[in-house]
Amino acid sequence: MSPKVAVIGAGNVGATCAQRILEHDLADVALVDVVEGLAAGKALDLAEAAPLVGHDRKITGSTDYRVIEGSLIVVITAGLARKPGMSRSDLLMANAKILQSIVPQVATRAPGAILIVVTNPLDTMTYLAWRLSGFPRERVMGMAGVLDSSRLRYFVSEKLKVPAGEVEALVLGGHGDTMVPVPAQTTVSGKPITQLLPKPEVDQLMQRAREGGAEVVKLLKTGSAFYAPASAVAEMVQAILKDEKKVLPACVFLSGQYGLRDLFCGVPARLGKNGVEEIVEISLTAEEKQALAASAQAVQADRAAVDALL
Ligand code: LAC
Repeated sequence: MSPKVAVIGAGNVGATCAQRILEHDLADVALVDVVEGLAAGKALDLAEAAPLVGHDRKITGSTDYRVIEGSLIVVITAGLARKPGMSRSDLLMANAKILQSIVPQVATRAPGAILIVVTNPLDTMTYLAWRLSGFPRERVMGMAGVLDSSRLRYFVSEKLKVPAGEVEALVLGGHGDTMVPVPAQTTVSGKPITQLLPKPEVDQLMQRAREGGAEVVKLLKTGSAFYAPASAVAEMVQAILKDEKKVLPACVFLSGQYGLRDLFCGVPARLGKNGVEEIVEISLTAEEKQALAASAQAVQADRAAVDALL
């Protein structure tokens, strides 16, 4: 039987996640949106593409959470997107309220599912989804590191004129201005970028990665990125559904790893059928450790505001 993945929110990110999951032939999809007809319309449109794309996965769209029953994974994309000049934290209270209306319904209809949160500000919304769901920590994670790392991989490949597939990169920390790209883990065919480019150029690439989301927002003017975010979600969904045990950067609950405790933040995590199966501690320079601690602190700054809602 085909596994099922639910996607909550049928906006650009949610609908593109549904498309990627179907077209990578990963699972059936249940798409839910509060706007009457939106999820059903996009689901029908995606279903009508199936004969051309050549997959046999099913998609259902509804306003009713009953369609998510039986889902192994629930991807939460619902929420307002950034407008130019807005920080992810500006979205905090508006999206916290949206999660308050969604997560209890998800927990009721799909009590055994693994949650992947995409709504911004990512780290705080992942924490909130964990609290609202009551799910164990290994079944709640946020998508950001895979996206931020993919952006960095692309920028490096463009700069050095090499295929993107030859570039590996790792971005840790909160999904915001304080995120921590790790130059030593940014490699081209195994060679660290620090050996391939002078430091100012490496720094420029790292900075572009930090501002990658804002760069797209600035161009689009009316919304934020969705193609790369959806591909990042599909990568995580695949790792879980196929029990790949792949190490991917993800926003996960830390209980002392990297010197951080009792918060959700981006670090490398092994993903498999049980969700977060291991948190992988790589060695960081003193400077990177400090940057990660500062990023965690920035994430924590939003915590009191959402705790007040609980
Ligand atoms: C971005 C949004 C999804 O980074 O946070 O594009």
